[in-house]
Amino acid sequence: MEKQALEQLNQAVQVLLKDARTQVLAAMGQTLTIDEKTSRKDLVTNVDRSNENFLVQRLRQLDPQARILAEEGLGDQVETLAGHVWIVDPIDGTMNFVHQRNHFAMMIGLYIDGEPTLGYIYDVMADKLYAGGPIVGVTLNERPLPAPRDAPLAEGLFGASGPLLIHNKYQMQTIAQTSLGPRILGSAGVQISQVLAGELVGYLSYLRPWDFAAGRVLAESLGLVVSQVDGTPVNMLSSGAVLVATKSAQRAILAIVK
Ligand code: IPD
Ligand code: CA
Ligand code: CA
Ligand code: CA
Repeated sequence: MEKQALEQLNQAVQVLLKDARTQVLAAMGQTLTIDEKTSRKDLVTNVDRSNENFLVQRLRQLDPQARILAEEGLGDQVETLAGHVWIVDPIDGTMNFVHQRNHFAMMIGLYIDGEPTLGYIYDVMADKLYAGGPIVGVTLNERPLPAPRDAPLAEGLFGASGPLLIHNKYQMQTIAQTSLGPRILGSAGVQISQVLAGELVGYLSYLRPWDFAAGRVLAESLGLVVSQVDGTPVNMLSSGAVLVATKSAQRAILAIVK
């Protein structure tokens, strides 16, 4: 896609996310319908579904030929990354959304023939929209976002996932001890945005494609690295333990995990 066309698309997606935020804030004033998916710790609400429907419909208007992979199943059955594939998480951090009414995000990623192209993480309550990609550049609320310093693990806070830290999977406790301290927020999107902003030197969690599709685009555009916890490349159609980190922190973490 031409740079100019991507820039227009980038603007249009930011507009649709602002519209989605307005609707989500309005829906938060009404009673939520909350259902359990696989367990009491895996929730979905009417707002996850209605926002996914809204995002999918608006993306179809913008990019009619594309296929859309969306968490709650209102998009398409996507089995390959050929052509334009949008990956959508309508509310990331549903547990926070339900119990805190805070610390949740909307996320959208665009992959063209498998190439990370556009990414959006919108921290709804903080009203912080991280947007862009390798060709159009990365912005935070429309202002260019500088690349974070290549800080080592020992000099930064580390974004942990609760389950991995509790069960010490992938040596998470050693990783946390080596860092200046672990931070657990319960939204992959918000935590990855903190890595983008240089507030965390890394984040490690077991993630599904929609949890890291947007973050991967933005992180790689800013010189951060995104890989599986063993250092091998991520695949946008499968789940796994995904590490988003500075290059230095990644080196230290891979040495700990090996
Ligand atoms: C979840 C959150 C959480 C992470 C889980 C995700 P959801 O996303 O990002 O922080 O630990 O793995 O599934 O289900 O609220 O969109
Ligand atoms: Ca979910
Ligand atoms: Ca998610
Ligand atoms: Ca979600």
